[in-house]
Amino acid sequence: MTQSFQKEYTDELVDIIEFIYGKDYLSQGGLASVERMLEGIDLQNKIVADIGCGTGGPLTHIAAYYPISSAIGIDVDADLLQRAEHHANVTGVTNIKWIQSQPEQTLPLETESVDVIVGKESWLHIKNKAFFFKEIYRALKPGGIFVCVDWMHRNASYSNLMKQFVFMDGLTFNLCTIKAYLQYIYNAGFIDVTHEENSHFALEYSRKDVEQLCDPGVAQQFKQRFGKKTLDVWLCSWLMQCEVFGRGEMQTFFVMGKKA
Ligand SMILES: C[S@@+](CC[C@H](N)C(=O)[O-])C[C@H]1O[C@@H](n2cnc3c(N)ncnc32)[C@H](O)[C@@H]1O
Repeated sequence: MTQSFQKEYTDELVDIIEFIYGKDYLSQGGLASVERMLEGIDLQNKIVADIGCGTGGPLTHIAAYYPISSAIGIDVDADLLQRAEHHANVTGVTNIKWIQSQPEQTLPLETESVDVIVGKESWLHIKNKAFFFKEIYRALKPGGIFVCVDWMHRNASYSNLMKQFVFMDGLTFNLCTIKAYLQYIYNAGFIDVTHEENSHFALEYSRKDVEQLCDPGVAQQFKQRFGKKTLDVWLCSWLMQCEVFGRGEMQTFFVMGKKA
């Protein structure tokens, strides 16, 4: 697998995020958050694809603990996929195929081949969401569903704090409002679309992350691995994250839709 895009999740960044979120998780809330996303969804004998699977923690958990038939982990970053595959092998999970995708291109999935598509805090990076949701629709079998947790903004005019937060985070955010997000989904053809705001959890998780980083023992470990300056930068960035979630400028939602 090769990289043909501007790599953002460097080895060090992944190590830092996993230090905070837990091994093989690049998103907030760990296991509990994955289980909440999948609550009430029938996964019996289903083929599940995770788009933006990162280092594979969520999908490996799904494959290990839910009665699915098989899984496909998709990400644009070959290095992350390699880590994900390693994690699955070590965990003894053998029914996941890991496939690299190209940003903003057709998904590497056959038409009408997948029962459930999941996305855990990954689709915020996708620029052309109109095309992306059409692609998801194409790949799902009739009656198939997608479910995601994703980050949105309240509106596109950012406060200085929000601008600074996005700048310091350093990753490309292609956020939109929940209204626009739902419109892309309906335009792609989905029915039975539901959404539920999840920002209070995001705020709670972000506060816990700050508390964790302020714990003297944890801070010491962090400094030993990544240096004091990195700790200061991350603490600052995380405090800003709490603030933008607290003010409602940034929001997270569970969203779900079905292919007729
Ligand atoms: C915040 S991480 C979340 C990873 C994983 N879902 C988790 O919860 O641990 C976002 C992921 O989205 C991936 N990503 C970014 N743009 C993408 C795209 N256009 N298609 C697929 N994955 C993408 C990144 O490489 C990264 O692995």
